[in-house]
Amino acid sequence: MSAEIFSKVHGVLAALQAEKIENAVDLEAFRIKYVGSKNEIKALFGEIKNVDNDRKKEFGQLLNDVKQEAEEKYESYSVTLEKNVNSRVVSDMDLSAPCQPVSTGSRHPVSVVMNRIINIFERIGFTVAEEREIEDDWHNFTAMNTPEDHPARDMQDTFYLKDSTSELLRTHTSSVQARIMTSQKPPIRIIAPGRVYRNETISSRSHCQFHQVEGLYIDKGVSFADMKQTLLYFAREMYGPQTNIRLRPSFFPFTEPSAEMDVFWGLNNDDDYRITKGTGWLEILGCGMVDPNVLINCGIDPEEYSGFAFGMGIERQAMLQFKITDIRQLFENDTRFLKQFSGVI
Ligand code: PHE
Repeated sequence: MSAEIFSKVHGVLAALQAEKIENAVDLEAFRIKYVGSKNEIKALFGEIKNVDNDRKKEFGQLLNDVKQEAEEKYESYSVTLEKNVNSRVVSDMDLSAPCQPVSTGSRHPVSVVMNRIINIFERIGFTVAEEREIEDDWHNFTAMNTPEDHPARDMQDTFYLKDSTSELLRTHTSSVQARIMTSQKPPIRIIAPGRVYRNETISSRSHCQFHQVEGLYIDKGVSFADMKQTLLYFAREMYGPQTNIRLRPSFFPFTEPSAEMDVFWGLNNDDDYRITKGTGWLEILGCGMVDPNVLINCGIDPEEYSGFAFGMGIERQAMLQFKITDIRQLFENDTRFLKQFSGVI
């Protein structure tokens, strides 16, 4: 009689040892069978009355061992499965199942061009500075040596905040120059990408909002030659290693001397004639040596430091690179238009 009951217990032990636990469902089944309130081992304790007296102790010992083994196995699998919750147990997954199509969207062409520009300048040690779009008149104009009666300050050109004559939407990223120069000490080497606003009539060629990337380099002994070489490097990274540039004298209140930079685009077809107005040259940016008045306004000694600055529009470069003919498409967020740029980085 005893032998039969003993072998029953050994059978349960062998079975629980052989039990495969690969996921939460298996674990729960194991719990109910061997650990839960109505488990099989408990039922075996009831058999003790049928065991011969001289083997009762041995039987009790055996059952306790089986019980302990069940509990330990349950505990250890609970911990392992818990660990696997995030990485999921492989056997839970059907690796042959077809995947759900995921729509990843695409980068906006303005971001694509902006990121390319940022990358090019980051490689030569410029860091990105981002500042506010709602500016005050001092950072946007006064500090930048733009006098009170300058036409750019006119309501016709600048969006002022309601009922304010001093708070405005920045008209250029040059306001970031003032923000940085008043808060950091030279050497300063930053680029400032961002959105700017001007009160212009919206057409296929101009918009009341657009993007610029500003550049500013201030240190001891920075020269016009440094600027020219930096901009040549940029043009060749952006438009190809053979690209040529030219600097034409220009005027900006905040730089002296000032220039506009053109890149040679070529005159190979009708489009080139149209885009370059028959010259082959394309204007890309404005630049110059930071005017000493601007340095003084921002608390930097022009006897000790000099620097150059430049500012370029993004939309026109995006339109050139992607052959977009109407600037308004860049602001409509029509996904049929934007999808064309998926995969472009
Ligand atoms: N802020 C000028 C513009 O918006 C560009 C510029 C920036 C020119 C820095 C010179 C130096 O046209």
